[in-house]
Amino acid sequence: MNFPRTILITGSTGYVGRHLLIALLQAGYRVLAIVRRRNGQLEQRLTDLLAPFDNGWSGQLVVVEGDVSQPLCGITDGLLSELKQAKPLAFLHSAGLTRFDAHLADDLKRHNVAGTQHAYELCAVLGIPEFHHLSTAFVAGTSDHVWQESDLDCGQGFRNPYEKSKFEAESYLHNISSDGTPKIVIYRPSIVVGGQ
Ligand SMILES: NC(=O)c1ccc[n+]([C@@H]2O[C@H](COP(=O)([O-])OP(=O)(O)OC[C@H]3O[C@@H](n4cnc5c(N)ncnc54)[C@H](OP(=O)(O)O)[C@@H]3O)[C@@H](O)[C@H]2O)c1
Repeated sequence: MNFPRTILITGSTGYVGRHLLIALLQAGYRVLAIVRRRNGQLEQRLTDLLAPFDNGWSGQLVVVEGDVSQPLCGITDGLLSELKQAKPLAFLHSAGLTRFDAHLADDLKRHNVAGTQHAYELCAVLGIPEFHHLSTAFVAGTSDHVWQESDLDCGQGFRNPYEKSKFEAESYLHNISSDGTPKIVIYRPSIVVGGQ
């Protein structure tokens, strides 16, 4: 049986995620988007976001209610088997709390550190072969040497709990002992600009 090329994504209502979502839809992928319900709205959030493009993508997009701060992103048992049957090729994890405030340290842990763990575990449970994680160049924190891709824990400090949470999320992924499945790919952009 042939399945359409399918990608699962978190964070598609966010700045980076919406550009990833649009690029995937433009490229012809079917996209399963894990989205939080806000003000009673779920599908409508992405419908509104995609409205300016009006490219007839509705058939390619499936919106799934979920929250990465919950185990397995809060996906219900029934939905788990549906998602599994869709056989996604990759899991793009772009959800995250992008606030730097000191008083949000616990929230940053919940959404960024536990959130990454929950997303990775969901990826593994669904048998998705690749986990793509949006990290940040700021995992380097206060480090003052030239960083290599392989650098992570260099004894650096952090300017805010956001940097620390992204470092801890990456550390979790680095420390997973598995047979290499799902394969983990980590991206470290600095500051993303352009578009809307
Ligand atoms: N933008 C940059 O310059 C930049 C640079 C480096 C790295 N990054 C990384 O790239 C990723 C995306 O950043 P962004 O700029 O797109 O952030 P953003 O605009 O603040 O969007 C964050 C996204 O994450 C979702 N999210 C947050 N907590 C969630 C939860 N518990 N469950 C489900 N979804 C949740 C948000 O959903 P709601 O709409 O429901 O809030 C939203 O879709 C982040 O991991 C960030 O650390 C961004």
